[in-house]
Amino acid sequence: MHKVAVIGTGYIGVVHIEQLMRLPNVEIAGIVDKNAKLAGDIAAKFGIPRVYASPEEALADPEVDVIHNCTPNNLHFELNKQALIAGKEVFSEKPLALSAAESGELVELAKKHNATTGIDFCYRYYPVVQEAAARVARGDIGAVFNVLGHYLQDWLLYETDYTWRLDPTMAGASNIVGDLGSHWCDLAQFVSGQKIVEVMAELKTTLPKRKRPKSNETLTFAEASDVEYEDVDITLDEYGAMLLRFENGASGTFTTSQLAAGRKCNIDLQVYGSEGSLAWNHERSAELWVGHRNEANQLFFESPIMQTPETRHYAKLPSGHPMGYMDAVLNLFSDFYKAIDLKREGKSLDYNYPDFEAGHNEMLVLEAAIRSNQEKAWAEVSCK
Ligand SMILES: NC(=O)c1ccc[n+]([C@@H]2O[C@H](COP(=O)([O-])OP(=O)(O)OC[C@H]3O[C@@H](n4cnc5c(N)ncnc54)[C@H](O)[C@@H]3O)[C@@H](O)[C@H]2O)c1
Repeated sequence: MHKVAVIGTGYIGVVHIEQLMRLPNVEIAGIVDKNAKLAGDIAAKFGIPRVYASPEEALADPEVDVIHNCTPNNLHFELNKQALIAGKEVFSEKPLALSAAESGELVELAKKHNATTGIDFCYRYYPVVQEAAARVARGDIGAVFNVLGHYLQDWLLYETDYTWRLDPTMAGASNIVGDLGSHWCDLAQFVSGQKIVEVMAELKTTLPKRKRPKSNETLTFAEASDVEYEDVDITLDEYGAMLLRFENGASGTFTTSQLAAGRKCNIDLQVYGSEGSLAWNHERSAELWVGHRNEANQLFFESPIMQTPETRHYAKLPSGHPMGYMDAVLNLFSDFYKAIDLKREGKSLDYNYPDFEAGHNEMLVLEAAIRSNQEKAWAEVSCK
């Protein structure tokens, strides 16, 4: 039985808690949040026995063998590092750190401590996304020529929309390319089987002035019309576009915006090869579009019977029943805990799941995008 501590019980912390509770070999020993009332309410709601007074207390709990770090970006590096030093297995939210120097250090530290690590690139874990990656690896679409797509949202459209993700001291050097771009680039590399080696990027702040609520409490307890705002300058991106070059010579494009009215979580990935194409969109997440040049196209629906044998176990419902976002996170956690168990038996998973190496890779892509935007030129993704 694994004993887990979850640090940070905001939006994604609760997603972690709910999915951890679905795993038969996992127990949540305790949780902690800077907002002690929030953590207390969540512990009561889910029957979690302990609320720690601080992240340090959670890391020092000898009962706990796994830490889930669900705090804002600026706390990822330090808490992940302290968790590794304390001998824990670590599952972190993305981005893994605020810089590639930091994420590289975490990769090395994890090796030193023989820790199993994971990072929440959960969109890979929809059954048909796994299916797409398996079909590309099997050669179904031939050589990959182009990888195209976008990730669009609308929750930052108005100047009164504000989040800590727009504050560089908490988010890091990028908002949207670090947040949504890291998910999409992970998907693109995972499905195509090709690493991104060069990027040309434009990161843009469309609304350089926003109105920030003066206090979070005002937001929670007051009517929207009662909220008092203060003006704040915004320097981080809420729009980004990237041209991409992949290691096999394939080219790609990626566009992302949080100002796209009507688009809530529209992730689109299209992979075009010499023999055919595959496309997936998060708004129809149970379907994989299969494109042909000389025969009718197909729409493949996730299935525990019809998927390639190695991806069937991710489609946990009878054919025709769509799984969802929570199930994708559960699939990822299942692989992570399987990796821990195998390691403890002296074995390892024989397939790729997102660990700190994947998180570090995304930091390298992000830093290349930021460099490219500053220098207005192509930037290589460093290989370290
Ligand atoms: N993988 C995904 O799909 C996905 C989705 C959403 C968020 N995230 C990531 O998860 C992280 C958290 O995002 P969120 O949307 O849950 O934010 P959030 O603001 O809803 O929650 C963050 C929580 O961390 C708590 N916190 C802050 N400082 C703390 C500290 N020192 N100790 C303990 N708790 C502390 C806050 O009080 C808050 O409850 C971010 O890094 C984000 O990028 C990932």
